[in-house]
Amino acid sequence: MLKQNISALITIFGATGDLSYRKLFPSIYNLFQKGYFGKSIAIIGTGLDELTTEEFRQQVKLSIKNQIEKPRDIDEFLYHLFYQQQNVNQQESYEQLLQLSQDLDEEFNLEGNRLFYLAMSPNFFGTVTNNLKDSGLTNVQGFSRVIVEKPFGDDLKSAEKLNNQIRKSFKEEEIFRIDHYLGKEMIQNIERLRFGNTIFEPLWNNKYISNIQITSSETLGIEDRGTYYESSGALKDMVQNHLLQMVSLLAMEVPSSRKSNDIRKEKVRVLKSLKSLKKEEIKQNFVRGQYDEGVINNETVLAYKDEPNVDSKSITETFVAGKIEIDNSRWSGVPFYIRTGKRMYKKAIQIVIEFKKNPMNIYYDTPEENESNLLVINVQPNEGFSLCVNGKKSNQNDEMQVVKLPYIMPTKDKMNTVDAYENLIYDVLIGDQTNFSHWEELMYSWKFIDKIKSVWNEEPPAFPNYKSGSYGPNESEKLLDRDGLNWWNNL
Ligand code: BG6
Repeated sequence: MLKQNISALITIFGATGDLSYRKLFPSIYNLFQKGYFGKSIAIIGTGLDELTTEEFRQQVKLSIKNQIEKPRDIDEFLYHLFYQQQNVNQQESYEQLLQLSQDLDEEFNLEGNRLFYLAMSPNFFGTVTNNLKDSGLTNVQGFSRVIVEKPFGDDLKSAEKLNNQIRKSFKEEEIFRIDHYLGKEMIQNIERLRFGNTIFEPLWNNKYISNIQITSSETLGIEDRGTYYESSGALKDMVQNHLLQMVSLLAMEVPSSRKSNDIRKEKVRVLKSLKSLKKEEIKQNFVRGQYDEGVINNETVLAYKDEPNVDSKSITETFVAGKIEIDNSRWSGVPFYIRTGKRMYKKAIQIVIEFKKNPMNIYYDTPEENESNLLVINVQPNEGFSLCVNGKKSNQNDEMQVVKLPYIMPTKDKMNTVDAYENLIYDVLIGDQTNFSHWEELMYSWKFIDKIKSVWNEEPPAFPNYKSGSYGPNESEKLLDRDGLNWWNNL
């Protein structure tokens, strides 16, 4: 990040929620500590809770202490923090918010820059954005921007409705739709690796790449989010956003510049080119699963159906694997396999780019011995990437071995980046939309997901079909086996 003198009033709706305490305040505190704001920053937390600013400051202090090792000068930061009780449906509370905003604008010299963070249920997004406009809160000298959390809609229709509501008060360039995966260092590294290296970009196509595998597995279950998860499932919770975002970054054409519009335009083109699948193809190419009880880290864990707030006959999927194809000349014939699931064998977000085997490798006696070159991007944990190449085994005969050239992000760099949210909030403050979803990205990804969902809805699945702590259902292995491939599980 470059040091910039940012001035802004950040108003957080849902400031007493889990996301705010765990991610947002520690991230803003970090940016403050790094000196990006100088003194020109004020933060208003709003929520339904009846709290004084002093009580709120103490809660935020605790949350920062919980998230950050040895925080310094928290009180200096807390001096910029205010609380206002807010019922988002009541117009008067926006009038009070306007008054407080104007006062803080003057006191902290904020140049009329306002950022509204909607860290709350999407059901309220429309109401809040309408009221922000009607009350005059968005009528400012500086910038007026809004950050909205996911889920952005439940299908294409509801996403469109939501978008139209927000667009009444904010222009597209003022709307920042969060996908926290886009704030992760190694996901931001995909473009740099591809476009910054002569050894990759010329090979990045169907002539040299055999397949791409994207995995986001979790050991966690659904925790206390049963009610939300029952209406979502892994397809909407993870694939529609995070996994398709990774596909679009891996597959996009070289943008004409690194400006956000140029990059997002290319991502949209990928999502638009996702091969449209017929019903039978969807059944073949997409696998769903739900976890049964099992053992994770030596502890027995519950089946999904027995989790709190989950229907005991639930057919919600907690696992998805799929084969995605892209209909363009660069990617035709290259499968992108995606996989995500809860209660799996380990927590890992990993991308494996498998190159085609060298057709004439004189050092191998049979074609089966010949190993593919792999580029492995470890998004989490052990952030970094490695290249697997073939080399000579150090002995006197002709034997070959796979040599791994690893890069692991140094701990000191990791400590500096803290969290995806810190990167993303910074981007919003400087007006950079690169790492946020454009409406058209959402539109095409929902179109793709809606089709799968409608085919799935026709036939109830036989759940549960995988044990907690496993690699997911057997069908997921078969998906690749059919194509003569297998998941790279142990890289
Ligand atoms: C969220 C999903 O978007 O991403 C959660 O709603 C999931 O269900 C989480 O657990 C995973 O994020 P990460 O960064 O831990 O991979």
